[in-house]
Amino acid sequence: MKDLVGRVAVVTGGGGGIGKAIGEAFLAEGMKVVLADIVEDQLGDAVKDIGSDDVIGVATDVTSVDSLCATRDAAIERFGGVHVIVNNAGVGSGAKGQLWEHHLNDWKWSLDVNVLGVINGMNVFVPALVAQNEGHVVNTSSGNGGYTPMASSGIYPVTKAAVTTLTECLWGQLRESGSNVGASILFPSTRTPGVMATGIWKAGANRPTRYSRGDPSDDQVQDALAGYIARAKAAGEEVPIAPLSEVGELCVEAIRDDVFWATVPMERQNDKLRARTDSQIHRTPPDYLLEPTLMAKSAEEREKD
Ligand SMILES: NC(=O)c1ccc[n+]([C@@H]2O[C@H](COP(=O)([O-])OP(=O)(O)OC[C@H]3O[C@@H](n4cnc5c(N)ncnc54)[C@H](O)[C@@H]3O)[C@@H](O)[C@H]2O)c1
Repeated sequence: MKDLVGRVAVVTGGGGGIGKAIGEAFLAEGMKVVLADIVEDQLGDAVKDIGSDDVIGVATDVTSVDSLCATRDAAIERFGGVHVIVNNAGVGSGAKGQLWEHHLNDWKWSLDVNVLGVINGMNVFVPALVAQNEGHVVNTSSGNGGYTPMASSGIYPVTKAAVTTLTECLWGQLRESGSNVGASILFPSTRTPGVMATGIWKAGANRPTRYSRGDPSDDQVQDALAGYIARAKAAGEEVPIAPLSEVGELCVEAIRDDVFWATVPMERQNDKLRARTDSQIHRTPPDYLLEPTLMAKSAEEREKD
């Protein structure tokens, strides 16, 4: 989609973080924007903060098809149609312990939002995009799982691997069927080095009660960014904060230039991809998973969870 002016975008998880930054980047391109998020207060603040008649907020739960249909209808009512869907809502459950010890509701919550939420977004919006033969789908993945997994964070990369594969298949089917609708996979990343300090680091935040671990005292929020900064500090490293606006720009470029792999190329990531491919081709153990990273909780930290 070369011409974005006047086109309408729905961004899930748009109440903050990367979704809000994508909404702001779309607005700067002259688009109309629907920010869709489950946390209503935060969504209201985001819309107020942006302060434009071309941006509305619609309370949305991506795990519900009915909720997403209502969001689509609200977008059409206000702006007359939809051209871009960004399936960006995501959670980190803050699952405790090792993979085999996680509460099943950590799996269910993560799979429902991060995977089913994207499938629901596709099912609700893509038929109309295909019918009008114009539009673009952006699904937010992560380098963690979308490229190679960080073993210590097992649930999250499982969901992001699914989003990547889903988007590859979507792209393939759109091209095979001759549709003009585009598809991209967004790996949030910035040209400026640093972490994207968003709500996702508050692992377990805003957990709906239906995904409780049973004992409310067990559902506390973990500040994963604080843990990372502490580990980095102990190793004598600074953790700069990157501007989220650069992720918004990446998303705009992906749509305008029809880029499938929407990411800032990083040599370290490329090395891992090569190591993974080599391991698969040569059937050697996936040793690249054992590389230490300050982002990951240590085995002792997981033990203490
Ligand atoms: N921040 C990073 O470093 C990073 C890196 C790679 C990928 N991502 C991905 O980027 C996306 C955006 O995350 P973020 O980093 O901006 O974190 P964030 O927590 O600030 O944003 C995620 C948003 O999704 C919303 N959400 C959660 N459950 C929902 C539901 N059921 N329905 C609708 N909205 C829901 C949250 O309320 C929140 O506003 C996520 O998919 C995340 O996995 C983030």
